[in-house]
Amino acid sequence: MRLSRAIKVVTVLGICSSVITICLWSSCSARQSDGFDRGLETLRGERGADENDVLTFHNRGTNSIASDQQPPLQPGDRDQAQADHWQQQQFQQQQLQQQLDYHEIDCNINNERTIKCRKEGPEVYVPFSFVKKYFEVYGDVVSTDGYERLEFHHANSIVHPPRATYTPSAMFMAFDHYNVENRERVKCITASEGVPITTQWNKEGYHYSIQVAQYGLSHHAKHIVTGEPDQLVLEDAEDEDGGVAGALADWQLPDKKSRLVLARHAPGLEEGGDNRVVEFLTSDSLSSKGITLPVDEKANKCVSMDVKFSTNGSVIIVVETVSRDRVSIHYVFTGAHIASDGKSNVFYGLGERHNEWMHIARDLKFDVQKGFSLKGGKPDKSHTGIARIVEIRLHGHGWLDNLTLSSAIHMEQFYDAANWLVKHQDERGGWPIMVARRVVPGVLELPPGWYSAMGQGQAMSVLVRAYLDSKEKRYLRSAVEALKLFEIDSVQGGVRARFLGQLDWYEEYPTTPSSFVLNGFIYSLMGLYDLKETASGRDKETAERIYSSGMKSLKVMIGLYDSGVGTLYDLRHITAGIEPNRARWDYHTTHINQVLQLMVIDDDPIFKTTVQRWLGYLQGRKSRHN
Ligand SMILES: *[C@@H]1O[C@H](CO)[C@@H](O)[C@H](O)[C@H]1NC(C)=O
Ligand SMILES: *[C@@H]1O[C@H](CO)[C@@H](O)[C@H](O)[C@H]1NC(C)=O
Repeated sequence: MRLSRAIKVVTVLGICSSVITICLWSSCSARQSDGFDRGLETLRGERGADENDVLTFHNRGTNSIASDQQPPLQPGDRDQAQADHWQQQQFQQQQLQQQLDYHEIDCNINNERTIKCRKEGPEVYVPFSFVKKYFEVYGDVVSTDGYERLEFHHANSIVHPPRATYTPSAMFMAFDHYNVENRERVKCITASEGVPITTQWNKEGYHYSIQVAQYGLSHHAKHIVTGEPDQLVLEDAEDEDGGVAGALADWQLPDKKSRLVLARHAPGLEEGGDNRVVEFLTSDSLSSKGITLPVDEKANKCVSMDVKFSTNGSVIIVVETVSRDRVSIHYVFTGAHIASDGKSNVFYGLGERHNEWMHIARDLKFDVQKGFSLKGGKPDKSHTGIARIVEIRLHGHGWLDNLTLSSAIHMEQFYDAANWLVKHQDERGGWPIMVARRVVPGVLELPPGWYSAMGQGQAMSVLVRAYLDSKEKRYLRSAVEALKLFEIDSVQGGVRARFLGQLDWYEEYPTTPSSFVLNGFIYSLMGLYDLKETASGRDKETAERIYSSGMKSLKVMIGLYDSGVGTLYDLRHITAGIEPNRARWDYHTTHINQVLQLMVIDDDPIFKTTVQRWLGYLQGRKSRHN
């Protein structure tokens, strides 16, 4: 019923666009008829005798719409052909006129209100703006190849199928499509740890383990898709005789007191005694010019370096935006994460890490964009894009190595996330979330300090990949530690719920009563899968037990989330007796992407039949009713 109505509306728009086409066509004819009239004038002047013929022609058409449109006059044999052609045109125009013969009609909606519709013959057309809202569908009139059409969509999201095979070192789902740092709620990527800060549930900003993990997984996936980045080494203190990495050659000193020298033994650098670094000494002050390296680079807009300071120095990168503004990005010693004057200076805090080597890797595009979104809402991304890197400046006293520009820094971003997870895991093996979460205010709430099974699972997926890539055991140990909360019930501060007291479920939000959020649960299962495939001995057994028990619950319960027209986000309507929480298309599509991924690792037919139905819902199909 709904669908057939929706189709009618599409038809309405179709008709409207033909109306527009007809209008264009007739105005074109009007212009043409000017030509005819002039032609007729000439003919009348020249051959007065034929004037009656002209009038006959003129009156032959019965339809007034084209009454001022007249055929060109030709004497002799060709008259009849012309007349036939003319008649045919008249006939077509009459038909079009009939099509245009519609009028307004009131449409009474559910006996609640009335809207204006149009009636044409037996057909009624309902405004698309109404249909869009009423049926929650999508569409816009778009103009391609010079003519307009309505692009109608039942849903507004795109399925990204996973690859045909899956291993714990492969790309996570199709996370190359994720762009965590681009989200408005991400305040910035910190310069102290290289991970996102979110403002989703607290304006001040806080670290959210799920977001940090997804940032890592998305860059891991992007690296797999794009391969090794292009790199341009600006300074690695190794090649004194020119070349791209010509040590010290291009730096400019601001005054006689400033110094720049090669240091063979980098203080505090245990390994690589042979490795040379650059030592710099100049004023700390941001108002001094600093030791400057002109760059003028248009292609590679990510920067990375190893740097260490003994004073309150800073690194400044000057860029030119696409709107030709100069912006200085300052990496400075402060505990604050980000500040900006909203015009030409953005500041990122390095934390309090004096006398310690820091590896800094930045995607400058986002550093500018986030700086500008601090002041005055949304930045215009077309203005904050970077046209070129102008120069790099150093302030204070310190050491520098491996200063590099590159097309991407995905693996560095991935490891920043992995290292953050290792560093901030607590003694319970979790990453507590330090803001309150009101899933349903007054009904499903969590005080600050809660853990998320989704955060635990997504962290495992990051840590396992870091271990498999680096072979460093600390990543695997951290992933194993993250298992502990899966065996602790929500009421005890863990993440485990039990459906009807029987089926284990790992909670994205471990509320009491339970909320049974589907997508978070599946993400946690995928983390458990990654770990059980990678760990060995007792750790592997534990991960396998927790995973199998969760998969068993999923296969039993997945049908509970199917509404017959879409999916449900959670089971709050069962556990809290409130209205069901329909998954918006974004999340419905996430459910589909997840089940498609599960099908790669588990051939249970329930996944296949379920996902086929769910894909159909995106196209407006519904399950049969009784
Ligand atoms: C850096 O600046 C702060 C504040 O001005 C000061 O207290 C601190 O001693 C300085 N540190 C160094 C290493 O110069
Ligand atoms: C610079 O990079 C090289 C090669 O990766 C590495 O061995 C060296 O330790 C790096 N320098 C610093 C100061 O970290």
